[in-house]
Amino acid sequence: MAKEIKTIGVLTSGGDAPGMNAAIRAIVRKAIGNGVKVKGIKKGYQGLLNEEIIEMEKKDVSDTIQKGGTILGTARCPEFRLGEVQEKAAEICRNHGIDGVVVIGGDGSYRGAQALARHGINTIGIPGTIDLDIACTDYTIGFDTAINTAMQAIDKVRDTSSSHERCSIIEVMGRNAGYIALWCGVANGAEDILLPEKYDFNEQSIINNIIRNRKKGKTHHIIVNAEGIGHSTSMARRIEAATGMETRATILGYMQRGGSPTCKDRFYASIMGAYAADILCEGKSNRVVGYRKGEFVDFDIEEALNMQKEIPEYQYRVSRLLSE
Ligand code: ADP
Ligand code: F6P
Repeated sequence: MAKEIKTIGVLTSGGDAPGMNAAIRAIVRKAIGNGVKVKGIKKGYQGLLNEEIIEMEKKDVSDTIQKGGTILGTARCPEFRLGEVQEKAAEICRNHGIDGVVVIGGDGSYRGAQALARHGINTIGIPGTIDLDIACTDYTIGFDTAINTAMQAIDKVRDTSSSHERCSIIEVMGRNAGYIALWCGVANGAEDILLPEKYDFNEQSIINNIIRNRKKGKTHHIIVNAEGIGHSTSMARRIEAATGMETRATILGYMQRGGSPTCKDRFYASIMGAYAADILCEGKSNRVVGYRKGEFVDFDIEEALNMQKEIPEYQYRVSRLLSE
């Protein structure tokens, strides 16, 4: 028989992402609506170990949906990989009367959730990362805001690039995944889009492309480079030397992770938060929420972590064709 859920906890873990607050708000309000108490766990697994745990009422999440970052704070907590630390965390949950926890984060955070479930604390994961690199879902909280922020920044760099007839290499985040680079590359009309999943390190073909475009009369050359490839500054030096075209590197960095979430991130995060609260209150555990083929769904954590995700081949081919 499923254990009775009287109190749940919520935490955000790993990198912050715009929309996490919308998810927290939905979890708090939906769970309370279901007659379940909610406790906020501050600063991810680190805060759980430090017992930074607060009661949360519906009013505590008002005026938060439009805010970037996470009102609970987040952290990376390497020691949470240790069995004895996970056991201690489960004990802390029990001491605080927490029967289940919603974990908002990425794959690493799901591993922590899985460990808590193994130690008797029900857990549900929600995909929170700007990188879109979680295989079980077509959407992750924060990706939409991040790509819109990056797209606007790249438009601005392009103005300068055109005015000075320069080549610009703009590096976007994404860890080892190229989704932010792919989307911005297409949306910004980049001349070259470099994805870690596809890049062959053939810089000569980029150089040839620049020379070809110069001959055609193009006044700028935008290269969107993914963080997983990196080395934008040294790449810029080599490209300038080989083409004679002034070349600058811009690393967008953390500005991509901040800011007020888009409508899409607020909406999807709200639905995912409510969905997670519902299944946790029903007694489900060791699951992650995803969005697939137009529907909100949930998977076993292990099953979700074993799924593979690749850059869609057709999208990649179109991105190459449109940048010619
Ligand atoms: P993300 O959740 O975005 O993938 P990380 O990989 O940094 O980010 O993981 C966030 C946190 O999740 C880590 O700091 C750690 O506390 C916890 N975590 C990561 N991997 C594991 C693991 N194998 N076992 C238990 N906890 C983990
Ligand atoms: O996962 C989100 C992300 O911003 C990645 O794009 C990036 O590689 C990483 O986090 C940076 O992490 P940190 O905040 O630890 O520097």
